[in-house]
Amino acid sequence: MKLCMIGTGYVGLVSGVCFSDLGNDVICVDKDINKINLLKKGKIPIYEPGLSELVLKNYKNKRLTFSSDLKTSIKNSDIIFICVGTPTKKGGSSADLTQIYNVAKELSLSINRFKIIITKSTVPVTTGDEIEKILSKKNSKNKFAVVSNPEFLREGEAIRDFTYPDRIVIGSNDKKSNRILKNLYSPLISKGAQYLHTSRRAAELIKYSSNAFLATKITFINEIANLCEKTEINIEDISIGMGLDKRIGSRFLRAGPAYGGSCFPKDTKAIISTADKFKTNLSVVKSVIKSNENRSKILLDRIYQMLNKKIKNKKITFLGVTFKANTDDMRDSSSLSMIPALSKKGAIIRYFDPTGYKKEFEKIKNVSFINNIKKSLIVLENTTLLFFINSFFNQVGS
Ligand SMILES: NC(=O)c1ccc[n+]([C@@H]2O[C@H](COP(=O)([O-])OP(=O)(O)OC[C@H]3O[C@@H](n4cnc5c(N)ncnc54)[C@H](O)[C@@H]3O)[C@@H](O)[C@H]2O)c1
Repeated sequence: MKLCMIGTGYVGLVSGVCFSDLGNDVICVDKDINKINLLKKGKIPIYEPGLSELVLKNYKNKRLTFSSDLKTSIKNSDIIFICVGTPTKKGGSSADLTQIYNVAKELSLSINRFKIIITKSTVPVTTGDEIEKILSKKNSKNKFAVVSNPEFLREGEAIRDFTYPDRIVIGSNDKKSNRILKNLYSPLISKGAQYLHTSRRAAELIKYSSNAFLATKITFINEIANLCEKTEINIEDISIGMGLDKRIGSRFLRAGPAYGGSCFPKDTKAIISTADKFKTNLSVVKSVIKSNENRSKILLDRIYQMLNKKIKNKKITFLGVTFKANTDDMRDSSSLSMIPALSKKGAIIRYFDPTGYKKEFEKIKNVSFINNIKKSLIVLENTTLLFFINSFFNQVGS
């Protein structure tokens, strides 16, 4: 099948290359010309284990191509996946759907034969309805179907997650696209993935509800960790003891810094905003957001206490600054609030991260990067306090 991924970021690039590896012809499109030029030279713009090898293999055998020409790419494809960003609106809490609707407008001008238009991006309930309205302005309804196929991959394990997903959710209101997509995903279904067909709105909400639930699980164990500190109990014993109950499960049940990343923070806010629109109070998710914001403050307080509130000129080393292991993604990482706060109080901060230097700390006073773990071990001898952040845990965030 001829597929087009619009947006070649963490989701678009990973799912595009995996679809090509399954035998489909895939065009990955991005409006960022630099990104496309890098990919054409065989350079991968993001850090994701195993991605580089898979891109090079499929690019060489010509099943995977890269382009910044959206119109031609759409015209040449049968199935189009929208994989652009849906960040939080500036100054608000709802999802900013500008990128989604811009793509929908571009799509409406380039439908030359029947196309399945799929949102892989995380989008609020009824976004599919809106995309359908935009497309209907310029095209007859038998020329396209709008489907929701939320993506559940985790950065750092994205290729494995795409190839061996727990479930594939297809939200479509028509039988034809469901049949075609079940066929597209058949290699993964035959390896054991559950295939769930729902209404389009249900698929949109499954994604947000799943992320809100996982964020709740992390926040719950972080709050229990606060209690453990006061009662001199090892939180890891609690995580293991709870996780052995199959109804609870051990994943996403390890205490750590506040959850971060490109999904949980924005998706928890966005589901509340959607619920508000439909006059429903998601009080549990609201308190999860509040508790998570508090988590970074609690950890900072702990550092202040350990150093008797004398932070000035204290040497603090961070091992890992991304929001979790095996990714270079800095979006909403706890380190972004903790490092500036410590620097403001006069601490001398060094950090090492396996994925390299971070421009986010360029303008923060007294922050320096150690470029290899051996050097950082020497620096550690000179360190007052060592702080392990999410990059050295496996679970936090999505
Ligand atoms: N990152 C994750 O782990 C993850 C997991 C599941 C779902 N999601 C969801 O998937 C979506 C994409 O996330 P991401 O992390 O891949 O984002 P990203 O920022 O890494 O990539 C988005 C890409 O879309 C491109 N783009 C924007 N407008 C475009 C246009 N008009 N034409 C072509 N390209 C365009 C951008 O240049 C960018 O490269 C979001 O809705 C996110 O919530 C992300």
